[in-house]
Amino acid sequence: MMKFSLLFLLAWSCVFLGSTGSLNRIGNSDIGFKSLEELVLIRKTLAAQALKLRGLEINLHRVLSKVVLLADAVVQVPGRYSSKEDPLAVLSERLNLLLERLNQEERISTNLLELKEWSTKVCQEPSPSQTLPKELTEEKDEPKVDFYQPAKSDCHELDEGVRVDGVYRFLVPERNEVQRDLYERYCAFATDGPAWTVIQSRGGSFDPHENFNRSWDEYRAGFGNLSRDFWFGNEFAHKILYRDDHELRIELQEAGEPLDWAEYPLFWLDSESYNYQLSVAGEFRGSLPDALEQHNRMDFSTYDRRRNHAKSADSTCGEDYGGGWWFDRCTQCNLNGEHGVHQRASPAIIWMNWRTGTDKPKSSRMMIRPVNPTPGDNSDGD
Ligand SMILES: *[C@@H]1O[C@H](CO)[C@@H](O)[C@H](O)[C@H]1NC(C)=O
Ligand SMILES: *[C@@H]1O[C@H](CO)[C@@H](O)[C@H](O)[C@H]1NC(C)=O
Repeated sequence: MMKFSLLFLLAWSCVFLGSTGSLNRIGNSDIGFKSLEELVLIRKTLAAQALKLRGLEINLHRVLSKVVLLADAVVQVPGRYSSKEDPLAVLSERLNLLLERLNQEERISTNLLELKEWSTKVCQEPSPSQTLPKELTEEKDEPKVDFYQPAKSDCHELDEGVRVDGVYRFLVPERNEVQRDLYERYCAFATDGPAWTVIQSRGGSFDPHENFNRSWDEYRAGFGNLSRDFWFGNEFAHKILYRDDHELRIELQEAGEPLDWAEYPLFWLDSESYNYQLSVAGEFRGSLPDALEQHNRMDFSTYDRRRNHAKSADSTCGEDYGGGWWFDRCTQCNLNGEHGVHQRASPAIIWMNWRTGTDKPKSSRMMIRPVNPTPGDNSDGD
């Protein structure tokens, strides 16, 4: 009990202080009685504790998933908890059930035999049904992919032997206010190594187009369909990025052409109290020019919530360009842009100096992957 209340206290302090990037503000602001170094130290301790807490949370989710699985199994074993009856009666009841099951299985196998006889008869006739067995063997050759992975918690843990992109479900659902699940993720084996978690996908030729000119709350909670165009959600992204160091990969593409990419070795999103401020660090790599650097340390803004520390004219960027983005004044890139005063094409995906400098890419993806996954994921957290 003690240990838990301590942890909760620490968790609250972490929430209170926010995450990466909030420190410099604390330093400049009203807390005058602590030296910066002391604060750095406190901050580091808190961050370490928060990391542990998050590890515990993930473990708890793993246990919960197992309980759910076990509960399902228990339901399938009838009579297990009718303990008031005498053991003999229980035993005979079980025997009866067993016999019943055996009978059922016998019936099924006779049915199967009949079916087999019938199908050989049908297949012997020269008809289109002859293609059936061929199709069946073809299906067998495809790799079997399990998109439900309750024992894993993220895309990067997926088996690299299979490498199939798609929407996976991990652990047990953790739903937000609009019923989107933190553990339902689009995983992409975009490069060598483990899968990436896609946090933005746009430009699929879907009808109707997903609308990306959305409010602060919608960008916070996420929108769109994970198998189509979507924004994973700032709160979910922050939650994942806060726990481990992650790299960011951006892909832009023109239909039928090789894709262009950019990678930032470190990527964070601050908490909502700090407007999901963007940070990128490390040596930029890519076939694209670096258009995100200018947005480093910028707050996220949308048409209905502008960054509040800039009172100049650039605060209408969200309205002019559409979408939510870490606007500066206004933008070197905006993968969430809309047809608006500055663009003629919709959706308007902007990346400064992309190709000729006048074209706009047709589709974009943003994805993240932990740099050094926390080894504590499977430990007991101590
Ligand atoms: C998402 O899109 C897929 C593929 O188009 C579709 O099968 C699925 O029903 C959609 N899901 C929702 C929640 O709309
Ligand atoms: C985005 O939506 C807001 C609110 O509806 C609107 O005022 C703004 O003009 C839109 N921006 C673009 C570029 O479409």
